[in-house]
Amino acid sequence: MIKPRLWITRRLSEATIERADRDYDLVVNFEDLPGTADQIIAASAEFDAIIPCHSELFSANVVAKLNPRLKIVANHSVGVDHCDLDALKSRNIAVTNTPDVLSDATAEIAMLLMLGAARHAISGDQIVRDGLWTNWSPSFMVGKQLTGACLGIIGMGRVGRALAVKARGFEMEIHYHNRTQLDDNDACGAIFHNTIESLLEVSEFLSLHCPATQQTNKMMNKTRFEMLPKGAVIVNTARGGLIDENALLEAIISGQISAAGLDCFQVEPGGNPNFAKYKNIFMLPHIGSATSKTRDAMGFRALDNLDAFFAGKVPADLL
Ligand code: DGY
Repeated sequence: MIKPRLWITRRLSEATIERADRDYDLVVNFEDLPGTADQIIAASAEFDAIIPCHSELFSANVVAKLNPRLKIVANHSVGVDHCDLDALKSRNIAVTNTPDVLSDATAEIAMLLMLGAARHAISGDQIVRDGLWTNWSPSFMVGKQLTGACLGIIGMGRVGRALAVKARGFEMEIHYHNRTQLDDNDACGAIFHNTIESLLEVSEFLSLHCPATQQTNKMMNKTRFEMLPKGAVIVNTARGGLIDENALLEAIISGQISAAGLDCFQVEPGGNPNFAKYKNIFMLPHIGSATSKTRDAMGFRALDNLDAFFAGKVPADLL
């Protein structure tokens, strides 16, 4: 039987590539640089399927130029804001993603960011590392305690719920806003707010877990930062577009926000150079899902979707 031709755009986990190589006529971009529009368009004439990451953009312009040979885009990501889904649908190209499998890894990074931002991880590390720790004082690096504090979660999907489970271990009081209220089983005691505004009022810590869409673009703006309790901590492991970064900087400078933990930025890779001098902004380079366990699980989930598609079935994560 002729194997479908598959292009994997980035260096996925070894186990993923081994399995893909067994089951597909595979080409991997071992150079591991983001696939350009021209590369994606050219690949569509040579491959039946592509496994891209969020670094490859399937904009309406790119999709319009795709060769009809390409049948499926099986994303190695849960977020699909890099894909124009309507355009892909109109070209009859199937699109899948990898939900569930990265929720715990991403929630762990949200906890790390929350703790690191609240407890001065960057300045603390730097002062010891640079040999500048010459004195100790009870008034030194006093941070904000998570235990007993109120955590607001915007977007109580899989990652939001995984964070709630972990934050409960820190005895935080969980509040959330979501398009729909969760049933009691899923909510596990988390308190629902039917508006973002009402959630912000109580959120000493705030963590964002919603997709990047036109509606959520810059949802955390100047007005909303001002609605948070003074000195709140904000964490973002979802997408950079959710935050108006100029407004965040203003809120950090004024002290309205005491610290931020960011794994996502409006410009990626690179981040926002204006944040660099603020040690109360704890930053990571979009590594929420970067554990070996999760990378294997994401790769396998993308391949499960491809296998189902080429077996004539509906892939579990068809969008
Ligand atoms: C996702 O899966 O959306 C993560 O951000 C990694 O791409």
